[in-house]
Order: sequence, then structure tokens, then C-alpha cells
Amino acid sequence: MKVTVKVPATTANLGPGFDCLGLALPVYNEITVEETVMPGSGLEINILDDSNTYDILSIPKDENNLAYKAIELLYSYIGQSVSDIKITIRTNIPVTRGLGSSASVIVGGLVAANELLGRPADNNVLLSIASEVEGHPDNVTPALFGGFCLSSLEDDGSVAFSKIDWPENWKLTLIIPDYELDTLIARSVLPENISISDAAFNIRKCAMLIDAVYKKDSELLKKSLKDKLHQPYRRKLINGFSELSELLENKEGILGCVISGAGPSILVISVDDSFEKIKNDVKEIFNALNVDCDIRTFEIENQGTIVI
Ligand code: HSE
Repeated sequence: MKVTVKVPATTANLGPGFDCLGLALPVYNEITVEETVMPGSGLEINILDDSNTYDILSIPKDENNLAYKAIELLYSYIGQSVSDIKITIRTNIPVTRGLGSSASVIVGGLVAANELLGRPADNNVLLSIASEVEGHPDNVTPALFGGFCLSSLEDDGSVAFSKIDWPENWKLTLIIPDYELDTLIARSVLPENISISDAAFNIRKCAMLIDAVYKKDSELLKKSLKDKLHQPYRRKLINGFSELSELLENKEGILGCVISGAGPSILVISVDDSFEKIKNDVKEIFNALNVDCDIRTFEIENQGTIVI
């Protein structure tokens, strides 16, 4: 028996919501988990990239694979150990670009294995295991449920979360460069401690962002897409982020730009088709920096992970 699931890409942080905000995008990885027919055949992992676009060589094909690690924890939750299993990952989500490819693999492996086992775990358990493997819940929550999610990894390992309606006319443009940035590196540049004034800045911007989404208030969102916890430190790793922020300042219908997750992709949020009007200027910035990038505009993905 085998189960295949489809899991969306995600963009996390949205500026001030470091490690707690994320939303799903309509680009999908497919993950298949199957019990192998031959007992004793052990673990087999296949990675397929139909588009041949993304560097999949960095995805481990042994016990270090994140889908496998998550599946191991699920089996351990039900008091069993994984024996003979085959995992196939068909990738469409760019790898190490800040678009939640690792979260999709973790969530996909978990949901597919949970189905195979007859659904012993509910969504709260799956989310808690996924967050343990990923280290933070901001990508895995929207990967599982779709939409715009606020999530908090609690001290007991559970995840408190909320899915909030995203205004339909707020479009999401991702600028996806052709270079990779490992999340571990992007986290290593962050300081151990921050000042109380920077913490207070982020608390008010994050609260304002949630209020803006509830009220569908574009002006409020524009004021809220600011951050002092991670972007100032990561800026030097993200080619074109400073130049783009400057270009977008005060452009009509542009609500802001933020680093997508740990980068290097950049997320621009805009009203209706406002981004189209400045797309060529944005391309010029990256051309001038000799950075090849893919620029793609999306609507939010609201379905989350589904079994196919
Ligand atoms: N919140 C995470 C970070 C997202 O910014 O490091 C990347 O996984």
C-alpha cells in the first residue's frame, strides 16, 4: 500500500513575525510513502525533479532525510519503529530558497505515513512532530493547513495556531534568485540577544500586522511589514534586498517587501496588479547586480496538504 500527498510551498516571517507567521503558496511537492514489498529491504528514498530546475543533490537520501526523521518520530509516538519503507519526493518547490521546501517534505512524509498507519495521530500531533523536526512552526503550520497562519511552539512541544483569512486582493510576488542560502547559515548570523527597544518594535509591528489582516487594512499592513529581529542581520546575505526596499518605498499599491523565511527569496506584497506596473524596474535591479531570478506572483494557497 502507498499514499501520496501534495504539500504547498510556504513563506515565513512576513517581516516582524519571526518564527511565528507564515502563509502557503500554490507550488507543490508530492511525497509518496509506501511499505516496501520485500521485508528487510530497509529505507529507500528517491528524489525526482521533473523540471530539472532545482538542485536536489543537497536533499539527503538516508536516515538524515527530514521526511524520514519525521516518520520515525510518528512511529515512535505509536510505540513502533520504522522498518521497510520507501519515500519518493517529487519536487517543484525550489530548494534552500526560503520557500519551505524542507517543511513540505516533513509535513508530506508525516501526513502520508499517518494515512498508511490508519491515522493514529491527529493534526495537533502531526504539527508538534513537524515543528520538532523543523525547529520552528512558521512554515510547517501553513504547509499543513494552507492559508495565513499564526503559530506558537509551546514549552511542552505542542503548537498553538490560528488560521486567519488573507484578503483576496493582496497578491504575493516572490523574487527567487538562482543561488541558495542554507537556513543554518542564515540563522547563524542572528545575534544571541537583542535590545528591549528592538523587541518592543517587533511586538508592536507583529500585533499591527495581525490586526491589518483581520481588518483587511492595506495602510496598516504597510506600516507593519518592518522588522528589527532578523532582517537587519540577514540583509547582507540577500542580494538586492536593500535596493529593492528602496525602490518600492512609496510605490502605489505596494505594501512592502520582506525576506521570505530565512531567504534568499524576497516576498513583495501588493494590492491587485500593482506589482505588474513596476516589474521591469525590479528586474533591472537584479540585472544590474548580475543576479538571475525568477519573479512569480501568486494568490494565497488555502487548501494545505491533501492526499491524492
Ligand atoms: N523562521 C525561520 C527563519 C524560517 O527565519 O529562520 C526559515 O526556516
